[in-house]
Amino acid sequence: MGPEESDRVGLGGDRMRPVRLDTGGTTLIIRGGHSSPGGPKVKVRTQKGVEEYRAVWMDGDTVSMIDQRALPHTFEIYSAETTDEIAFAIRAMVVRGAPSIGAVAAYGIAMAAMNGEPLEQAAKAITSTRPTANDLFYAVRQVRSDIEAGMDPQMAAEQYVEGLVAQCRAIGEVGQVLIKDGASVLTHCNAGALATVDYGTALAPIRAAVAAKKEVFVFVDETRPRLQGTKLTAWELSNEGIPHAIIADNAAGYFISRGEVDLVIVGADRICRNGDFANKIGTYEKALLANAHGVPFYVAAPVSTFDPELASGADIPIEERDPREVLFIGEYRVAPEGVEALNPAFDVTPAGLVTGYITDRGVLTAAELGEAATGPAKAATVADPKPSLKAKQKGKAKK
Ligand code: MRU
Repeated sequence: MGPEESDRVGLGGDRMRPVRLDTGGTTLIIRGGHSSPGGPKVKVRTQKGVEEYRAVWMDGDTVSMIDQRALPHTFEIYSAETTDEIAFAIRAMVVRGAPSIGAVAAYGIAMAAMNGEPLEQAAKAITSTRPTANDLFYAVRQVRSDIEAGMDPQMAAEQYVEGLVAQCRAIGEVGQVLIKDGASVLTHCNAGALATVDYGTALAPIRAAVAAKKEVFVFVDETRPRLQGTKLTAWELSNEGIPHAIIADNAAGYFISRGEVDLVIVGADRICRNGDFANKIGTYEKALLANAHGVPFYVAAPVSTFDPELASGADIPIEERDPREVLFIGEYRVAPEGVEALNPAFDVTPAGLVTGYITDRGVLTAAELGEAATGPAKAATVADPKPSLKAKQKGKAKK
């Protein structure tokens, strides 16, 4: 049994039985209801045309999400009605990407409150699922404190999620200034709408640049072992019609050294006070490569990803996942029987390798983090990047 199959244990029951609706580029299988309210949506292309979804939403007392394990070939909705099902969805990566994990946790706490569960217990079950993404802990704290202060549970969660989506939009507008017409951007893992409920963090500036009629090409790192780049980022970019190519993880140095990459933009799972940050395993080496070749390296993130409690990257808890994710590709074992594998899910990139942090309040340097990054969200001012960053980027012309 491969890791993806084993992840599905526990998904049984009539409510979860999939209903096949259509076939096309992506097979649509809907589990339960699929009304996905809210503003802009993830595009899903089918033979019928384009359907629009958010990656995560709440409908009555059910929390629904696109099942990211099934993409790109099958489009399924996973619906959770209990805290255990919420915890399962996060742990098994039905939902993944730091901000989307936070959103599911926010809705999960609201659902627990609506079901009359003690919030302490629900918070513990939800936060014990994955250790690295700060958004999970931030969302639970935020929504729980709003509910305990008397706010309607669903309203507290919706407010959290709408705030997140608005920040992603603003990150897009702020970050697109960094992308020149004709630029090539390299990204790692998936930091698009699937990872953030809507729009994305690393993909947001790319979407906004394309919307501003710039030509952009995206190098998509495949992102072993779970292939979030191949399966999810490429799926999102194809649905949006944004030109891109998947590259093997170990091909990034080839393209960067040839001057074919103008900038790198990645998301983050946790950013410390000094600017060190954790992101999907393999991010650190992309930062080193970018630095060695004078290519700007940006990190895009909402406020929920910043952890002012942690002084530096050495303090970030790094998730170790099932070695079978390395030993298998999908359900096929590629390693010899009986061998071991190590599978850290994230690595830490030191702040010194980061050109700037793209936030809803502007492009910040590591020295400018702190209150500027984690204080109350402001309406984004969409301005030119700071002169220092602009000059840095100019000076790093293609080799
Ligand atoms: O293990 P995952 O797929 O949850 O890891 C996701 C990432 O590392 C993303 O790059 C990160 O969460 C940023 S998403 C906006």
